[in-house]
Amino acid sequence: MSDHRLSVAPMVDRTDRHFRYLVRQVSRGVRLYTEMTVDQGVLRGRRERLLAFHPEERPLALQLAGSDPQSLAEAARIGEAFGYDEVNLNLGCPSEKAQEGGYGACLLLDPLRVAEILKAMVEAVRVPVSVKMRLGLEGQETYPGLAGLVERFAQAGVGVFIVHARSALLSLSTQANREVPPLRPEWVYRLKGDFPQLTFVLNGGVRTLEAALAHLRRVDGVMLGRAVYEDPFVLAEADRRVFGLGRKASRLEVARRMRAYLEEEALRGTPPWAVLRHMLNLFRGQPGGRAWRRLLSEGRSLEALDQALRLVEEKIGQEGQQEEPGPKGQAEAALPPAGQGV
Ligand SMILES: Cc1cc2nc3c(=O)[nH]c(=O)nc-3n(C[C@H](O)[C@H](O)[C@H](O)COP(=O)(O)O)c2cc1C
Repeated sequence: MSDHRLSVAPMVDRTDRHFRYLVRQVSRGVRLYTEMTVDQGVLRGRRERLLAFHPEERPLALQLAGSDPQSLAEAARIGEAFGYDEVNLNLGCPSEKAQEGGYGACLLLDPLRVAEILKAMVEAVRVPVSVKMRLGLEGQETYPGLAGLVERFAQAGVGVFIVHARSALLSLSTQANREVPPLRPEWVYRLKGDFPQLTFVLNGGVRTLEAALAHLRRVDGVMLGRAVYEDPFVLAEADRRVFGLGRKASRLEVARRMRAYLEEEALRGTPPWAVLRHMLNLFRGQPGGRAWRRLLSEGRSLEALDQALRLVEEKIGQEGQQEEPGPKGQAEAALPPAGQGV
């Protein structure tokens, strides 16, 4: 059974393979999602460039968007062949582009079509097919309406529901859609009560691991987006407290691993900034954090990273920054696997 206890949300222009590799250095257990990838890109675009990932990134899910059952099934098959552990269908994107393309949140207007798409995807792959959806559309969402969608999609073979616990207002900007419609986590708790055999992951507005742990008493999983991008170390205690892995990397340790990664990537022709841009928040709120950010943004090179590393090493010093083994007996403190904690 796949483990959805804690995951990082799919975010366009954020959760590319470099940022995912960074997050993986902070937490071994957390589940990662790609940026939303339109099916036609997978079918006709530069597939290797779109889909390739570092093996360390797993467990990793590919998020697809589209509206045609056969194209999405084929894209899912290709994703599975690349080694993804899960294929997710985007039913939450409210952007104008998505509406014009007939994918994302607007698909919720046509649940029959969504069921047809999901059935085709489920039949095409062996890995789990999940959905990421909102509570409903245009602020007219009702709990029975939501439960009806879940029931229909479950009949199509979906077992994992990631619910961004607010509705989508198609007339609002994408950004406003992440803030304006009110969050209703209690609806996701209720779904778990009504469909105990399905896996429910709550998403939206979770800022800390403490808050995630509180939700985990009521649902199978929690997905964090912006909070992780703003400070990847929001997940610093995740391995110990959620997964019982007994491991905690320091910021400096992660920065050094990213340096090695950047060198490897440079040999493959990756521009340093493609990696460095995701590292700007690595020392957020720490001594030297602002200078770190400035040096990386201005220099955009391996040399700039070395300079920034020297700076934070001086500021922070070595003490207390080595990898910590964590206290004994911590595995017992970790949460039970998904589905058993509710
Ligand atoms: C920059 C950005 C890009 C996003 N791109 C996607 C995406 O590709 N697919 C998706 O399902 N949601 C996307 N989202 C929404 C997030 O996955 C998530 O549902 C939302 O940010 C709420 O979670 P949070 O409050 O933890 O950030 C994006 C959000 C942000 C901020």
